[in-house]
Amino acid sequence: MSSYVTKKTPGNTAWFTHDRFGMFIHWGLYAMPARHEWVKTRERTPEAKYDLYFKYFNPDLYDAKEWARQAKAAGMKYAVFTTKHHEGFCMFDSQYTDYKCTNTPAGRDLVREFVDAFRAEGIRIGFYYSLIDWHHPDFTIDVNHPRRDDPDAKQQNEGRDMHRYAEYMRNQVRELLTNYGKIDIMWFDFSYSQRHGEGDKAWLGGKGKNDWESEELIALARSIQPEIIIDNRTEIEQDIWTPEQFQPTDWFRHPKTGELVTWEACQTFSGSWGYYRDEYTWKSPEMLLRMLISTVANGGNLIMNVGPTARGYLDSRAEEALKVYADWMKYNSRSIYGCTKAEPEFKTPTDCRLTQSEDGKRLYIHLFAYPFDNMKVEGLAGKIEYAQFLHDGSEVKFTEGKVELLSDDKQEDDETAAFFYLPHVKPNCLVPVIEVFLK
Ligand code: GLC
Repeated sequence: MSSYVTKKTPGNTAWFTHDRFGMFIHWGLYAMPARHEWVKTRERTPEAKYDLYFKYFNPDLYDAKEWARQAKAAGMKYAVFTTKHHEGFCMFDSQYTDYKCTNTPAGRDLVREFVDAFRAEGIRIGFYYSLIDWHHPDFTIDVNHPRRDDPDAKQQNEGRDMHRYAEYMRNQVRELLTNYGKIDIMWFDFSYSQRHGEGDKAWLGGKGKNDWESEELIALARSIQPEIIIDNRTEIEQDIWTPEQFQPTDWFRHPKTGELVTWEACQTFSGSWGYYRDEYTWKSPEMLLRMLISTVANGGNLIMNVGPTARGYLDSRAEEALKVYADWMKYNSRSIYGCTKAEPEFKTPTDCRLTQSEDGKRLYIHLFAYPFDNMKVEGLAGKIEYAQFLHDGSEVKFTEGKVELLSDDKQEDDETAAFFYLPHVKPNCLVPVIEVFLK
């Protein structure tokens, strides 16, 4: 059994830390301007202009089954969908607002179709729900709000009532957690209570748990779905830490106590979360795989994001990125599912990442750079029963304690180490993996 113990949390994370890999889906009106999901506040878009996106939102090519098929092929075991992002637009048929997809040319409950299609593929369902809302009339103008630079911003805040807004959120969360069957993850986003404006804008504050009334919100969610996994962005600690757009280089620790925690890196293919037509910072295939492998090697989960287009399909760049995972996971998923950080007794060789099955019986050596001829792994001598390449199940020969080389002057024995003998040419696999069955 793995010797790493994480801090206990209220929800059920057992399936989560087994499944390791999920799909994030950021989809909303912001797919139409197609230049970041924060476009409304970045550009201080006038309401009348943003209303045009509502008026013309028509994802006529949306086929949730096709997305689900691609997620499954990529090896993703859960998916988290933006039911409402910061713009405030609801992708579901809420009875508490008119600002919803069923009132646009889309005319359908887009969350419902997502849930049905992904569930049918055996993928677990998560809902992203933005705590921030740049449309709701009770949400006060703050440091991130699109109207913050309006000359009358202060006056606009008069009469806005965050209590009413918090109640609106509870009503919607109740709808989401009641009307769509079992929901495995609730992903609230996000708190920024330490932030405030500067100079003559110093009055612009941030928002946090008191504004969201997080305690009640969480209690409500748990009362409906007791096992649900909730992230920590309400400013009340729940189940998962969610480092965003960076890769922790070791197991994520609790910022105060230093304990190991359950964590999920959230990452994008290109930088923004919503569809961004003119973004050219797409990650390379190698990098995509390294991110997944390195995350699991550090005991975490990875959720990779797609930002579907306004017509409702995944653009070719996103499809290609998903295909990178599909091609690799088809043969190598055994080093990801049910795996975690390897025991400290095994020393990671240069340019490699190790994962180990939770039961401790299998060790996986991921070769980020392909080594020549033989590879030494310290801490493994005497512990191996059998070794093979994972992608094709072909035997990888090894010796323990002693390296077999042709010339004496290259002798590099090490009684703690195992030496693996590799083919001179890298197998046709972006990141080859050696699967080691331990005694
Ligand atoms: C954020 C951003 C956002 C994105 C999210 C995903 O904090 O505001 O647009 O939805 O994180 O992690």
